Amino acid sequence: MVRTLDLNLVTEPSVLETVLKSNLEKDDIYRFMWQVVGNGSVFAPVSVWKHRRKMILPLFNQKILSTFFSIFLQNSETLCSVLSKFTDAGEFSIWRFINAYSFDATMETTIGVKIDALQNPDNTFLNAVNESQNCVAERIFHVWLHPNFIYKFHPSHERIKKCIKTMNDFVDNAIQNKREQILDKREGHEVKSILDHLISMNEIDHSMDDLELREEVLMLIIAATDTAAVSVGFTLKLLAKYPHVQDKVYEELQGVLGDTKRPLQREDLSKLDHLHRVIQESLRLYPSVPFIARKIEKDTLLHDGSILPAGSGFLASIWGTHRNPKYWGQDAECFDPDRFLPHRNQQSQSRCFLPFSFGPRNCIGYQYAMMSMKTTLATLLRQYKIVGEPESGPKPNIRVKWDIMMKAADGFKVALERR
Ligand code: HEM
Repeated sequence: MVRTLDLNLVTEPSVLETVLKSNLEKDDIYRFMWQVVGNGSVFAPVSVWKHRRKMILPLFNQKILSTFFSIFLQNSETLCSVLSKFTDAGEFSIWRFINAYSFDATMETTIGVKIDALQNPDNTFLNAVNESQNCVAERIFHVWLHPNFIYKFHPSHERIKKCIKTMNDFVDNAIQNKREQILDKREGHEVKSILDHLISMNEIDHSMDDLELREEVLMLIIAATDTAAVSVGFTLKLLAKYPHVQDKVYEELQGVLGDTKRPLQREDLSKLDHLHRVIQESLRLYPSVPFIARKIEKDTLLHDGSILPAGSGFLASIWGTHRNPKYWGQDAECFDPDRFLPHRNQQSQSRCFLPFSFGPRNCIGYQYAMMSMKTTLATLLRQYKIVGEPESGPKPNIRVKWDIMMKAADGFKVALERR
């Protein structure tokens, strides 16, 4: 008799691989995001997603991504100068600043609009992005808010409606302005945003209407902003807890850039191997997206002969897989960036590392995110020492909370000392 599985939370890489490759439909739990992003590709049904992914993916090629480096650098430098007022001033929550950095960089790369939320906090659009996600998280975690007929009487129903209107109006306006700019040939020499590329492609093949453009652009803004900011936040906290690892990152930066004050260049990033491993280890222990939910649409045969029955839900635990001692060893919970050294990173381990998911619906922003995070961290760490209570052992103790993304419960508190 064939065994059927009713899996709730999966941390077994071979099962994840099979399911994430062949079951592409998102679970209904994401329906509360549809209200915000419509058919934006992250949560769209497969029938819509296929076309959207085909349109967006080519824009994340190396040639286009490399033009974004100057945007990441400029905004990272602004972040450093805004943070200078916290130097030697004790612990503070750095979340608001890395969130604003990530938002500014994302808005410039995706729609070509300079916001400067870093220097002008309380930006209406950023507030709407944050607030709408809080509302969705509140709804997901409070089952009694799931039915529409109840939710429409809850105060967050009105709040989320306002946020959605703010975001949609802003993006519609940006699309309109961009079209006019392109028509009038008012384009300057500034970096072309994803929206520029999409509109230009569209003029040739008319493959996306304005609603599709808006949904996709808004989706990218939401997918990019918090994910990268959260990861920078956890990396900073880990570096504060483990000063010897931070010293090694700083030495590497000095080795690549020397004592000079010359600005970071894109070519430097590929030489920052230790920083790369630190980010990987941070993403392993604290993945920004700790769980992925899929809908099992057809009976799925697993390698051990058991079957995942059609109609069941599937929750892939990236968090659990990344801490599974069967693959990562008894020190799976410990912070050790050197586990990603080529000679230690076994083939079997690389299958257990999926912060950007796996298969046809994996993250298209992987290289974008790595470039943004490395630029921010390298720029910050050159100027500041990140300080915090050193951890007593190799197992970091960071309390986390989960809304739409996983974040540090203390708002990523750290202190800064000038180098
Ligand atoms: C550290 C940063 C990031 C992490 C950890 C991350 C993680 C993920 C994960 C786990 C998924 C897959 C969800 C699933 O399988 O259900 C995903 C999808 C996606 N991500 Fe990211 N992401 C990051 C940054 C970005 C950035 C910067 C962008 C865009 C600029 C982006 C755009 C997307 C898109 C469009 C999808 C949907 C892909 C599809 O369904 O075809 N992400 N991301």
